[in-house]
This record gives sequence, C-alpha cells and structure tokens, in this order.
Amino acid sequence: MQISFILALAVTAKLAFADDDTTTSSTTSRATTTSASATTSGSLRTTSTNPCSFSRTTMSAATAVGQLNACSTLDGDITITGNEIGVLDLSGVEEIKGDLTIFNAPSLVSLNFNRLETISGSLVLNNNTHLQAIDMTSLTVADDLQFISLPGFATLNLNQGVSRAGRVVLSDTALENLNGLAHFDTIDYMNINNNKNIVEINFEDLETVTDALILSFNHDDAVVSLNSLRWAGNLTVQDVAEFSARNLTAVNGSLSISYNSFESLNISSLTTVGSSLQVFANDEITDLSFGSLREIGGELRLFNNTLLEDLNDSFSALQRVRGAVSITGPIANFSVASLERVDGDFELTSTSEDFDCSRLDELHDDGDIQGHNYVCTHAEVEASLTESTSTGASTTTAGGSTTTRESNADKPYTPAGMLACFLAGVLTFL
Ligand SMILES: *[C@@H]1O[C@H](CO)[C@@H](O)[C@H](O)[C@H]1NC(C)=O
Ligand SMILES: *[C@@H]1O[C@H](CO)[C@@H](O)[C@H](O)[C@H]1NC(C)=O
Ligand SMILES: *[C@@H]1O[C@H](CO)[C@@H](O)[C@H](O)[C@H]1NC(C)=O
Ligand SMILES: *[C@@H]1O[C@H](CO)[C@@H](O)[C@H](O)[C@H]1NC(C)=O
Ligand SMILES: *[C@@H]1O[C@H](CO)[C@@H](O)[C@H](O)[C@H]1NC(C)=O
Ligand SMILES: *[C@@H]1O[C@H](CO)[C@@H](O)[C@H](O)[C@H]1NC(C)=O
Ligand SMILES: *[C@@H]1O[C@H](CO)[C@@H](O)[C@H](O)[C@H]1NC(C)=O
Ligand SMILES: *[C@@H]1O[C@H](CO)[C@@H](O)[C@H](O)[C@H]1NC(C)=O
Repeated sequence: MQISFILALAVTAKLAFADDDTTTSSTTSRATTTSASATTSGSLRTTSTNPCSFSRTTMSAATAVGQLNACSTLDGDITITGNEIGVLDLSGVEEIKGDLTIFNAPSLVSLNFNRLETISGSLVLNNNTHLQAIDMTSLTVADDLQFISLPGFATLNLNQGVSRAGRVVLSDTALENLNGLAHFDTIDYMNINNNKNIVEINFEDLETVTDALILSFNHDDAVVSLNSLRWAGNLTVQDVAEFSARNLTAVNGSLSISYNSFESLNISSLTTVGSSLQVFANDEITDLSFGSLREIGGELRLFNNTLLEDLNDSFSALQRVRGAVSITGPIANFSVASLERVDGDFELTSTSEDFDCSRLDELHDDGDIQGHNYVCTHAEVEASLTESTSTGASTTTAGGSTTTRESNADKPYTPAGMLACFLAGVLTFL
C-alpha cells in the first residue's frame, strides 16, 4: 500500500491520451464510444458498457495510466509508449484480459503490477531501455508474457511465482535468475535468449513443452537442467556450459544443439526426434551420446564439432533416419550397429584417416541407404615413404565401386571438393 502510494505520487506528468486510429477501432468488433472525459486532450476509447475495455488505444503520457489503474481488469488492445513515463503504477490491475504493450518508453524505470494475478491476454514489454524493476508479486497465470530488449531490467519480483504459463519470452534483459518463473509443469512456448546474467536455468517442474523451448546465448557458463522434461515440441540449446535432461524421451519437432561449451552430452532416455536433429559448432564436445535414440523423423546433421572424433557409441540404438544424414568432422568411427534404413541422402566426410567406410558402404550397397546421393570419404592413410608422399582423400561415391583419389592433400574438404564428390556421386548414379 505504501509502495503504491509512493508510486502514485511519483506519477507527476500531465494526463493525456493520444488519440487512436478511429478507422481501425470502428472495424473492431467492440463497440467504441468516446469517453466523457472532455477535459483530456484526446479521448480514451472504451466500450459503452465497460470503461475498462479499450479498443485500440495508444497512450504516451504518464498519468493516462491513472485511469487504467482504476480498472481491476484491463481488456482490449492498449499500448503505452513515449518518454514521459518514469514510474508506472498499475497496482490496481488484477487481470490483463486484452493485450497490453509497453514499448519504446526510454524513461520508464519501474513498473508496479503488484496486484496483477492473471494475464489471460498478453503483456509485452519491449525496448524500454532504462526499465530496472517490475513488481509482479501476485502473478500466478501468464498466458503470454514477453520481456524483450530491456537491458537494465534486473529485478523481477514474483512472489509465489507463475504456476500456469502459455508463452514466455525473455530476451536481452539483465535478469540474473528465473526465480518464480519456473513453477509450471507445462508451457506452449518459452524462449530465453541473450540474458547475459542468467547462469542457471533449472526448470524442476517442467514436464512438457507443446511448441518450443529455446535456450540461447544467455551467460556463457549457463547450466541448464531440465530433468523433469518428458517431451518438447522443438528444443534448441545454444551457448550452454552444462546440460541435462534425464527424463526426456521425445522431441516431437526438431532438436538443435549448438555453440555449447560442454565436453560431453548424454541424453540417454531420448527415443525419438520427430523432425531434424542437429549438433553443430560445439567446440569442446568429445563425447556425444544418444544411447536410446531409435528414430529421427527428419535429417541428422553433425558439423563444426571440432573435437568430436568418437561416435562409436553415440547412436547405438538408431534404427531409422527418415531424412538425410550429413556428418562432417574429424570422425574416427561412427557405429551404425542398429541402423536399418536412411531414407534420404547420406554424406559422411571425415578428416580422420582412421575412418572406415566399409560398414556404411555395405548399408548403401544393400539398399538401406536410399537417398539419391551417397558419399563416404575420409582422409587417406599417409602413404609409405617409398610411394607417393602426398596424402589425399579416399572417396567412395554412389556407385560404391568407384574410388577416386584426390591429390588435393592440404584441403581435401573445400566446398569445391565436396561439390566434386557430390557431382561424382550424381554422375556415377547416372
Ligand atoms: C528503442 O527505443 C529507443 C528510445 O526510445 C529508440 O530510439 C529506438 O529506435 C528503439 N528501437 C527500436 C528497435 O524500436
Ligand atoms: C523421471 O521419471 C521418473 C519415472 O517417470 C520419475 O519417477 C522421476 O521422478 C522423474 N525425474 C524427475 C527429475 O522428474
Ligand atoms: C517446431 O517448429 C516448427 C518450425 O518452427 C513448427 O512448425 C512446429 O509447429 C514446432 N512444433 C513442433 C511440435 O514441431
Ligand atoms: C510428443 O511425443 C510424446 C511421446 O511420443 C507424446 O506423448 C506427446 O503427445 C507428443 N506431443 C505432441 C504435441 O505431439
Ligand atoms: C549416459 O547416461 C546413462 C544414464 O545416466 C548411463 O547409463 C550411460 O552409461 C551414459 N552413457 C555414457 C556414454 O556416458
Ligand atoms: C562452421 O565452421 C566454418 C569454418 O570455421 C565457419 O565458416 C562456419 O560459419 C561455421 N558454421 C556454423 C553454423 O557455425
Ligand atoms: C573410436 O575413435 C576414438 C577416437 O579416435 C578411439 O579412441 C576409439 O578407440 C574408437 N573406437 C573404436 C571402437 O574404434
Ligand atoms: C563400438 O560400438 C559397438 C556397437 O555399438 C559396440 O559393440 C562396441 O563395443 C563399441 N566399441 C567400443 C570400443 O566402445
């Protein structure tokens, strides 16, 4: 109470409502009337029945909010913007039923929503460069909550925490933790990216993600624990130092793991990936294990994992890849003990001379690798001194019987070289 009183005092700028787009509002389904506040410079558009239901309304001055604050439920499409607002007191609001957007408000430093319990519509805060703190101590339900480009935003008070959420976006903030934002067991979509102070992402209760979970480029040392997660639509994990998802059995869409700094990744319970599986640019990874993964519904791509050599146990249960397979790197071995079928193209380009293509060649010869193009190449074993001193690439192309030797020893895997392999494959096929 004291806080809101102080906040209310701090609202000193003049009251004004920017007029909204009349033609747009008249085409909305809500009946619009001009409010009786003839003393204000503009007109606040509300429905005739409910003064807290706004049709498309833009406010650019501070005390306009006073009128919003009289509404326990805000409905309609409301935008607050401009540089006159320093402290925003919306402590009277208990529910946001419509869409409230607060954006490009560079003077805004704090926002009081301390009685807000439910966001059944959406609340979007975007590009408020000096916003530091938001009080949401009563919030429990957030259908759509987005904090975007709030580089000074470091304090979020969520007392009991959000227990039901639909869509949460947290991008480019100064938040240090997700305390209070992790109490739900299911969510449609969550995107947490570029929050450079977030070191720990631990969703202890999160069991399912119906659309997508994206955790990208937060603190370089971010530790991510999703140990209750059973399935997720899409899952993207980038720039993470540690990752665990012990109960994850399915990614129904795509799984992308890139730019991480962990040395090993073991997602041992994952059995299916519905769409593509991509693992790339993980500079330190040496151990990769998808020990239970049986099927990939789309493509399998591994590249730019500069230290990843040993794939002998990585995909030991993999039976079927419905898309293409593309694997490049210093791969020494790649066990396909369970592999029965690849529906798409296959390319394995290894810079290791230890790689043995014979098992893959066999699969291809048997028709189990069905795509039009098949390439398996590896660096050639250094020739003995009595023979040619150049190293090259040994290439087995789509024909299976054609082995070409290239003397382009220093850079056997230039794009041109790969194109040549590809063309050789096509030509042989023809
Ligand atoms: C963000 O807000 C600042 C200050 O209000 C403005 O200058 C800038 O153009 C805005 N950026 C975007 C992407 O809207
Ligand atoms: C993982 O799943 C098992 C079996 O469903 C369950 O008993 C266990 O509590 C789950 N672990 C976590 C961390 O949720
Ligand atoms: C995953 O992402 C794709 C592309 O962004 C999207 O079409 C799909 O609906 C998402 N969810 C699932 C479950 O695949
Ligand atoms: C994702 O896959 C799991 C396991 O197969 C399944 O239970 C769940 O219903 C699927 N989710 C969606 C959105 O298809
Ligand atoms: C991966 O984790 C599972 C379960 O913790 C364990 O049984 C298995 O040995 C691990 N695999 C590797 C290659 O570390
Ligand atoms: C992969 O590595 C190459 C060579 O270092 C680089 O040019 C390319 O941008 C990288 N690709 C990705 C997606 O990181
Ligand atoms: C696979 O390659 C790694 C790295 O070169 C090596 O240590 C390991 O012994 C190889 N495993 C098999 C079964 O060849
Ligand atoms: C390589 O993988 C095969 C098949 O999964 C397995 O039988 C063999 O023991 C593995 N070798 C090593 C050295 O891990």
